[in-house]
Amino acid sequence: MDNKIIAGNWKMNHDPTDSFNLLDEITNGLKDRADHKNLIIFPPFIYLHAFNRYLTESKSILQLGAQNIHFEENGAYTGEISASMIKSTCKYVIIAHSERRQYFNETNETISKKIQVAMSQQIIPIFCVGEKLEDRESSKTFQTLEHQILPVISQINNITSQNIIIAYEPVWAIGTGLSATKEQISEVHLFIKDLLNKHFNIKPSILYGGSCNPSNAKEILTTPNVGGALIGGASLKSSDFLNIIDTAYNL
Ligand code: PGA
Repeated sequence: MDNKIIAGNWKMNHDPTDSFNLLDEITNGLKDRADHKNLIIFPPFIYLHAFNRYLTESKSILQLGAQNIHFEENGAYTGEISASMIKSTCKYVIIAHSERRQYFNETNETISKKIQVAMSQQIIPIFCVGEKLEDRESSKTFQTLEHQILPVISQINNITSQNIIIAYEPVWAIGTGLSATKEQISEVHLFIKDLLNKHFNIKPSILYGGSCNPSNAKEILTTPNVGGALIGGASLKSSDFLNIIDTAYNL
């Protein structure tokens, strides 16, 4: 057995009925399976409280995370959610997903504040990085990643290998059906691993995300330095998500 992290990012999908059905299907599916420890779903904020109660009452092994938090601890930020508000339901939070960088103008400065505020509440941030297609085509993948990682992590106090997770998600692979190849994933994960080790002396888990599905999960999860997968589309279908979990468990 391999202890990979399998994380499902539901994004802004599913009404309450469909969300509870999906949760039900996943947790029922997990009852027949062994006790894999690192299974996380990231539903919309609105479902976290009820999901947490459901998971606790059904003694499920499934864990919860949030898709975002605000960078301040509290205050006059209408419509926002703070780390302390999700602390009782979430062990993890996704920070700097490329959709948030693109549509909500997240900057290195706000991203590092979010990571710090998550850590201050003992929530593990899953810090997303990844190059756009134009970066890759102009051979700027490593440079882009360095610019996303170094200024952010250098602002974080008390970082350890255990209190942060990195997710490498090439933007061109997210939601496109076009996953990065094993070679591409392997060289980028090695680059990120070396960068973090050299500059900050940490070795966190590094997840891969971008069109991971039941057909390519085994190849992705057996790539060197891949600590697991962050899954979007395929996490919205219980059979696909459970299939990927089985793949991780049977490596
Ligand atoms: P995808 O999304 O699996 O649908 O490509 C991944 C992500 O956005 O985390």
